[in-house]
Amino acid sequence: MEATQLNRALLDFIDHSPNSFFAVKNAAEQLSAAGFTRLSESERWELIPGGSYYTTRNSSALIAFRLPKADFLGFSVMASHADSPAFKLKPKFEMSAEGTFLKLNTERYGGMILSTWFDRPLSIAGRVMVKTESGAESRLVNLDRDLLVIPSLAIHMNREANDGFRMNPQTDLLPLSGVSAEELRALIAEAAGCRYEDILDAELSLYNRQKGTLLGDEEGLICAPRLDDLQCAFASLRGLIESAPGRSAAVCAICDNEEVGSVTKQGAAASFLKDTLTRIAAAFGLDGEGFTRALRHSFMVSADNAHGVHPNHPEKADPTNRPYLNGGIVIKYSANQKYTTDAVSGALFRLICEKAEVPVQVFANRSDMMGGSTLGNLSNTQVALNTVDIGIAQLAMHSAFETAGAKDTAYLKKAAKTLFSTAIECGGESYSLL
Ligand code: CO
Repeated sequence: MEATQLNRALLDFIDHSPNSFFAVKNAAEQLSAAGFTRLSESERWELIPGGSYYTTRNSSALIAFRLPKADFLGFSVMASHADSPAFKLKPKFEMSAEGTFLKLNTERYGGMILSTWFDRPLSIAGRVMVKTESGAESRLVNLDRDLLVIPSLAIHMNREANDGFRMNPQTDLLPLSGVSAEELRALIAEAAGCRYEDILDAELSLYNRQKGTLLGDEEGLICAPRLDDLQCAFASLRGLIESAPGRSAAVCAICDNEEVGSVTKQGAAASFLKDTLTRIAAAFGLDGEGFTRALRHSFMVSADNAHGVHPNHPEKADPTNRPYLNGGIVIKYSANQKYTTDAVSGALFRLICEKAEVPVQVFANRSDMMGGSTLGNLSNTQVALNTVDIGIAQLAMHSAFETAGAKDTAYLKKAAKTLFSTAIECGGESYSLL
């Protein structure tokens, strides 16, 4: 029952988080409701031991943390990402077709499965910059109604539709609007609470309007848009909120732009995590050497969804490292270190899951297949911690509607809660969980 409630809360979170701006806004609201204090990166931080805080960058990345009451040892970090592949509107996006239709000119953000965006109601959400008396102000907009569709070409006009038809994003995937250009501008202006002429610039994306759902009971499936990686982001956030302060600073990072390589000021390859950890260390009176030592008593979990064995394509999975939906948390391994997991971080994460009574399974790519990359190795170029790459097993990654195991959300929440309540003391070649 509790697992179903958690998944319903996750579906609600996803439904209200059409992109990273809204995921961060909703995460911030949950943290505020749980008593976390909001901090601005541009102001002086007065951190109190035992306190709970969060800060955001670019309105699209968030770091929340809970400080130890005393005896600060290091950091226990879980990182995930808030962005998902989607179509982004180009600066001049209005396109008239046949003097009759309004189409929108878009480009791809990230590597989505193109075919999954056809023939479903879509809407628009994102951020606009509105002109003010003294300058400009950022405002989030979500048109929050069915407005657009990307219609397929009829089978009669495309006999190759079922034979590996190659889609062109500039011609095949432009959405058709159900409202006129004037109406669309009015809707955007209304959502931004300004005149359309006062919008100086914008970052607007399409999103799938289909609501997520549970198939079966709590041992069944969860289907929704953006499970990669809002399922991990949500579970880690809940884990932090439920955790108790231990000897490590518990840090939940939700990054932006993972789907386009993380190399932005709000991405995992940026200084955001390092800047925040430095400020936390300063609050405990640590100097540069103290910070370096604290990093050695720290652990990071890079949480990004993983590929489960596909029932129609079991041959695509590695012969021996085969994770299944509802089988527990997936530890990801890659010889080339696309995933950060090594024997140390794999072992430490297994101990944390053992303590949390959560099952683990393992993933490796087939040796003849290139995998994707994720957050851990990029984050380590800024702030190097013992790091493990993990995820929840899912199917149809980067589809507009993805599928995962209903049991696994609760597993990750429990593991996150345990991680955030645990400190890891490093004694040279040995490690102790405190
Ligand atoms: Co991901």
